Amino acid sequence: MKTILLASLALSSALAVVPAAQADEKAMEAAGRQLFAHHCTACHSLDSSENAFGPSLFGVVDRPAASVPRFAYSKAMQASGITWTEDNLRKWITDNEALVPGTRMRHVAIADPAERDYLISFLHTLR
Ligand code: HEC
Repeated sequence: MKTILLASLALSSALAVVPAAQADEKAMEAAGRQLFAHHCTACHSLDSSENAFGPSLFGVVDRPAASVPRFAYSKAMQASGITWTEDNLRKWITDNEALVPGTRMRHVAIADPAERDYLISFLHTLR
């Protein structure tokens, strides 16, 4: 009897995990969208073909740095040789000038690790 109860408890919590994880992801993306509007939209368009003061960030995750056509990147960014993995994006928004000294992007420093996660989950949606 006890085993059956435990088994059914385990099953129901396993079933609950999937929707909760999806809900978390949506909530993180939504939080990231707001943070992006606050910290990044002034210079970055979400339109795939449009550069603003900064390059378009459409499809930025796993893209090589300085690869958007018709954008005048700094020499530092062109020479950086980095790819925008999650890890590098995290470093970039923690302290962009530490990752690419001489970049033309204004100093950005998102101190809260949770906020960095939200922003990165939002950047994943840009494709
Ligand atoms: C004041 C304007 C400005 C703000 C605000 C800004 N950026 Fe930028 N961003 C730029 C410029 C300009 C560049 C190009 C830098 C270079 O060439 O050195 C850039 C480059 C980038 C790149 C590299 C893109 C590539 O194609 O290699 C990423 C990623 C990026 N920004 C993300 C962000 C995020 C995320 C935010 C918000 C947290 C943000 N930026 C806020 C102006 C800005």
